Amino acid sequence: MKSFQIKSFEEYQEKYTLSVSNPDQFWGEIAENFKWQKKWDKVLEWNFSEPKIEWFKGAKLNITENLLDVHLEKNANKKAIIWEPNIPSDEAVVYTYKDLYHKVCEFSNALKSIGIKKGDRVCIYLPMIPELAIAVLACARVGAIHSVIFAGFSASALADRVNDAEATLVITADGMSRGAKLIPLKSVVDEALENCFSIKNTIVFPCIKSEISMKENRDLWWNDVLSGQSNECPAELMDSEDMLFILYTSGSTGKPKGVVHTCGGYMVYTAYSFQNVYQYQPEDVYWCTADIGWITGHSYILYGPLLSGATSIMFEGIPTYPDAGRFWQIVEKYKVNQFLTAPTAIRSLMGYGEKYVNNYNLASLKVIGTVGEPINAEAWHWYHEHVGKGNCPVVDNWWQTETGGIMISGLGNLSPLKPTFAGYPLPGIQPVLLDQEGKEIQEHDVEGYLCVKAPWPSMLRTTYGDHERCRLTYFSHYDGYYFTGDGAKRDEDGMYRIIGRIDDVINVSGHRFGTAEIENAINENDLIIESAVVGYPHPVKGQSIYAFVVCEHAYENADDARKSILNTVTKEIGKIALPEKIQFVSGLPKTRSGKIMRRILRKIAEGDTTNLGDTSTLLDPLVVDEIVKNAI
Ligand code: WT7
Repeated sequence: MKSFQIKSFEEYQEKYTLSVSNPDQFWGEIAENFKWQKKWDKVLEWNFSEPKIEWFKGAKLNITENLLDVHLEKNANKKAIIWEPNIPSDEAVVYTYKDLYHKVCEFSNALKSIGIKKGDRVCIYLPMIPELAIAVLACARVGAIHSVIFAGFSASALADRVNDAEATLVITADGMSRGAKLIPLKSVVDEALENCFSIKNTIVFPCIKSEISMKENRDLWWNDVLSGQSNECPAELMDSEDMLFILYTSGSTGKPKGVVHTCGGYMVYTAYSFQNVYQYQPEDVYWCTADIGWITGHSYILYGPLLSGATSIMFEGIPTYPDAGRFWQIVEKYKVNQFLTAPTAIRSLMGYGEKYVNNYNLASLKVIGTVGEPINAEAWHWYHEHVGKGNCPVVDNWWQTETGGIMISGLGNLSPLKPTFAGYPLPGIQPVLLDQEGKEIQEHDVEGYLCVKAPWPSMLRTTYGDHERCRLTYFSHYDGYYFTGDGAKRDEDGMYRIIGRIDDVINVSGHRFGTAEIENAINENDLIIESAVVGYPHPVKGQSIYAFVVCEHAYENADDARKSILNTVTKEIGKIALPEKIQFVSGLPKTRSGKIMRRILRKIAEGDTTNLGDTSTLLDPLVVDEIVKNAI
């Protein structure tokens, strides 16, 4: 492994101190481990007020040279990606570093042949198949900016993202296989593209070999664009601060924003954090169960592991198909050493009982990770005891799409373990807790708003096409700090535990939605006059969505109205955003100035109606009684 892999907790403490006292030296030394075509003039230049953040300024590189070319000399035949299909099979689909290199080069040439060049935006709407990895890396190789869109999003959500990025190409498949179902993708793309005028082409991979329609002069088959392409392709020379990718994520406003990551800093931080948090060793097999449609898949299936020359498993399927032992069967099959999944998956599998875990040999596991949402004590202990057999450290990775990489987490077996705590920050990361007034809380055993007070290499640089929005969302709440939107506790040992979002963001099964985004979707339904959406605790999903809806004629035909709302949300965002509960109300609790009092709705959704706080400022306090009475 690279020389930046920390080997003990004492070394962690030393490195942490250095990273704060001399960040330029700290990050400069780490960056020396990579292949740069030209070295940087300056490690870091920044101000949070614009914001302007530049890492390794003046340096030139291509990230794919660092995750493919550099491994060819010594590790050409090492497994880079092991692909496990949705339907279990005895065979393993393996791409060595050499195979992957050639596949990526071939597809890079295919992209060039249809005119894709540096700076173009390419949307990727694919299932978890190797072609997804190849497409992402080929974009990076030719300098095109990839925007991966999770294949569960609807046509309307896809169109919004294509249009926001003014993408010229969509890479997709005919459809996908997920659990026992076949799901169409190309027809969704067709519908989306009716409203997208920047798109010149699509490239379609025949994944399930289903009948689809291909539009002449626009739609190209994967195999046709590849045919005759050379499997060597020089990597485009990129500036350290050139955009690498856009990834859309939800915030407290209605419109998802395109978080932008750049080449140099993202490369350095994803490799650094991967090797330290997972303590990966050269012979290990690592598996992260996330989807590449989310940031976890970008940073910890593809970039971090491949930059480290690791063997990374990519899984097409779901945890419960053909049965709830699927994850453990794969762990046994490939003798997985490091395993990373989400609390929602752990809770769901916990519900099926231990017999599925106990059916398989999990002795290969060394480190097990959790990511995406706060993990409750019961799930933590179940994971530690039944999956880790009591002797694997559980690393709880706290981070965000915007942070690009893991910020607070244990490092393999080096750090002290504390159930439900993410723990200490990685060296280079300076979290702080702020109080209501925005003052730093210095003491321990406190709670506050989680912010970060200095830049780190993989932080977002902007929100695509709207820099002011980036400033307002992340850098304007507290002057001089990056604002995470999370509340956190720091205990007497200085360890952090993330409590959850303090803004209007709901985390459903590790997927992030803005309440306004779901309200906008619901309001697209003609029957709807008004709606308010809140999150409430859910035993498996972490949070679930509760919609309070003012609807014409709802009382006459509530079932139809409910169905119609669910259809609208499916159409606007996708099934992943469906409200679990819909309550029809005659009005919403509003202040005299017209602001919806979400605090009250949140309490009602949580089932805690004994103390609704002060309702005297409401325009019509009586609506609250009615909502409480009919609460679901
Ligand atoms: C939000 C970011 C990080 C990649 C996947 C989600 C919550 C994330 C944890 C954790 C408690 C967590 C936060 C954060 N979150 N990881 N280990 N413990 N909460 O990325 O979609 O950008 O969501 O997820 O609330 O702000 P994302």
